[in-house]
Amino acid sequence: MTGRPAARQRAYDRHHLYELSVQNVDADLDFGERVYRRRHGNAPLLLREDFCGTALLSCAWVKRRLENRALGVDRDARTLERAKEKNAAALGPDAERLELVCRDVGSFTRPRADLTMALNFSYWVWKTRPEMLAYFKSARAALRPGGILVLDLFGGTEAAVVSQEEREVEADACFDGTHVPAFTYIWDQASFNPISHDFQCSIHFRLGDGTLLRQAFHYDWRFWMLPELRELLAEAGFARSEVYMDDWDEEEADSNGIFRRRRDFDNEGVWVGYLVGLT
Ligand SMILES: C[S@@+](CC[C@H](N)C(=O)[O-])C[C@H]1O[C@@H](n2cnc3c(N)ncnc32)[C@H](O)[C@@H]1O
Repeated sequence: MTGRPAARQRAYDRHHLYELSVQNVDADLDFGERVYRRRHGNAPLLLREDFCGTALLSCAWVKRRLENRALGVDRDARTLERAKEKNAAALGPDAERLELVCRDVGSFTRPRADLTMALNFSYWVWKTRPEMLAYFKSARAALRPGGILVLDLFGGTEAAVVSQEEREVEADACFDGTHVPAFTYIWDQASFNPISHDFQCSIHFRLGDGTLLRQAFHYDWRFWMLPELRELLAEAGFARSEVYMDDWDEEEADSNGIFRRRRDFDNEGVWVGYLVGLT
């Protein structure tokens, strides 16, 4: 067994697997920047990443441009430690423009950001209207005048159901340079309660050697609906909210990846969109 645990740990780093299978930080940053630029004519400077986890989005933002700064917020000290050891370390001296804060996202509002992003549905941890309203109020107070909050969400006729979906992920290099061999990502919607909208989901990974990493991540969420989130943004004092959806590319049988502002769209089995709160 000598040396095996370290080798296993290297091969099975769940955060690397998550970054490669779930996150698309360049597309998210392009989107946030585009919406901000359209409003202001210039790019945002300070990005606040709520629920930052390994702070991949923040690090990619800092790397993008010399004047960019980022503030990553997460309440989990171990995950933040890893963010420092891996993604922040990969920035070298540019890490000076990154601040990582171990706190609840709703607990502080300074420094105020130009653009706040809370992605991959992390804000669905709140189960009640008062909790979600409190977060939106705090997120608004943490923005400079004219700042924007970018959230993502999903829905559709087949979204709030028990289901499992598998996707092959090609071998790739992570932000910190670690090479990860090909693996399978499994999204498991284990239970949905239509009365409370309690929604239990997990991510499992199947590695190239057949090893199954069960419940590498688990989420205990409420499934929130778009209209109620928009109402809460308005109640929290956001001047306006906007919804952005992508289009379906028939030839590629995939999203075209271009998110346009919509007032209406055809409901689909499962859709993923951005919800933007404007101050
Ligand atoms: C799904 S991960 C998000 C990772 C990454 N930012 C992304 O977009 O995919 C959710 C993170 O939110 C953190 N978290 C959950 N509730 C929180 C809260 N109230 N305040 C701060 N962090 C929280 C967890 O520790 C976890 O690291």
